[in-house]
Amino acid sequence: MNNYRNELFYKYAFVLFFIIAFFEGALMFSLIKSFDIHLKDKLELIASQINPEKLIHNKDEILKLQQKYKIFPLYIQFIKINGKKAPQEYKEGFKTDKLKAFLRNEKVLTYTVKKGDYIVKISTLYSTNDDKITIIKFISIVISFIIYLISLLVGYKFIDTIANQIDLTFKKLKNFNSNVSHELKTPLTIMKSEIELALMNKEKDCERILKDILEEINYISDITDKLLFLTKNYSKNKKFEVVDLEEIILELYEKYGNKIEFTFDFGDDEYEIMGDKTLLKIALSNIIENSIKYGANKINFVLDKFKNRIILRIIDNGIGIPKEKLPFIFDEFYRVDESHNKEIKGFGLGLSIVKNILNLHKAKVNVKSEGGVEFIIEFPAVNQKNLKNV
Ligand SMILES: Nc1ncnc2c1ncn2[C@@H]1O[C@H](COP(=O)(O)OP(=O)(O)OP(=O)(O)O)[C@@H](O)[C@H]1O
Ligand SMILES: [Mg+2]
Repeated sequence: MNNYRNELFYKYAFVLFFIIAFFEGALMFSLIKSFDIHLKDKLELIASQINPEKLIHNKDEILKLQQKYKIFPLYIQFIKINGKKAPQEYKEGFKTDKLKAFLRNEKVLTYTVKKGDYIVKISTLYSTNDDKITIIKFISIVISFIIYLISLLVGYKFIDTIANQIDLTFKKLKNFNSNVSHELKTPLTIMKSEIELALMNKEKDCERILKDILEEINYISDITDKLLFLTKNYSKNKKFEVVDLEEIILELYEKYGNKIEFTFDFGDDEYEIMGDKTLLKIALSNIIENSIKYGANKINFVLDKFKNRIILRIIDNGIGIPKEKLPFIFDEFYRVDESHNKEIKGFGLGLSIVKNILNLHKAKVNVKSEGGVEFIIEFPAVNQKNLKNV
């Protein structure tokens, strides 16, 4: 665990400790209070049932009362007052006294009440009566401790998972930043040296230099457009409309038909999905442009419909992609081994844009490469349910 994980975990453990200690304290307090009330009730009940005249001469009765009310020990003291006013120390009610007995601190609970000619003082010791409560206290502390440990463990796992996610995001962001800086630095360096050279040699061929610089500016503008697109946060709830994939592909044919040969394999079905036409055209354009860039002279579009899915397959006959590289081609800035397309310029952003757009359309994409490249895109077809949302 690195620093911020430790810090998060300690804070969590600290707060959790106080929360559990608070609830444990509250539980103990109410337990003791209810025990206290219970004991007082018993003493009051005994007081209401005894008859001093009888009890004075029959000590066995006290034992019976002890057993009946399960109060040990039970001391009953009778003070005859013969109708006189009771002295101050025999004030009616409950009283708790501390008592040091056998090196232990005991608490004595006394209930004083006037009964006929007698003042009756009924006393008992807390300690001997609270054995049960001690067991309950112990069990409850053990349970709280176990809950604390389990919560610590679960919390640790939770914090660890979140921290891993944060680390991963930071790593991606760092990579992204370094890739962007790298991509921008190269054209800037080229422009700088071109200008410096021109100034030093008092270069006459201004047109060539300006052309070179313009090329680099176009390169920067292209990458910033792509980056801006990737950072744009298209909401998942973007208002989609019914779009016809067949129509989009034919429109793209109009645009790219002079650069690459198009073939179509469409069935008789309707190939309508819920989507954003502009975004879908950007995605498919990126795929077509890649085919053109990476050596294909033919591109085949196949449309199929299975239950509620529409499958679009785009197959080219270009240089293809090595199998082991396929899992990475949608990563930002990923380009298959520069030697694979040494001469071909690119940032490795086109397919990230494709992936983002397809995700937005809840479409799955798969890529195969045997010879050329084949993209298999699975769109949810328009159905009555999503038509209602239009
Ligand atoms: N049709 C294809 N044929 C061969 N290789 C491809 C094809 N499509 C993609 N690739 C490989 O996948 C990599 C990633 O593609 P992507 O479109 O993301 O980046 P790019 O084309 O290099 O740059 P950009 O599109 O950002 O200008 C490419 O560099 C290329 O190596
Ligand atoms: Mg590309």
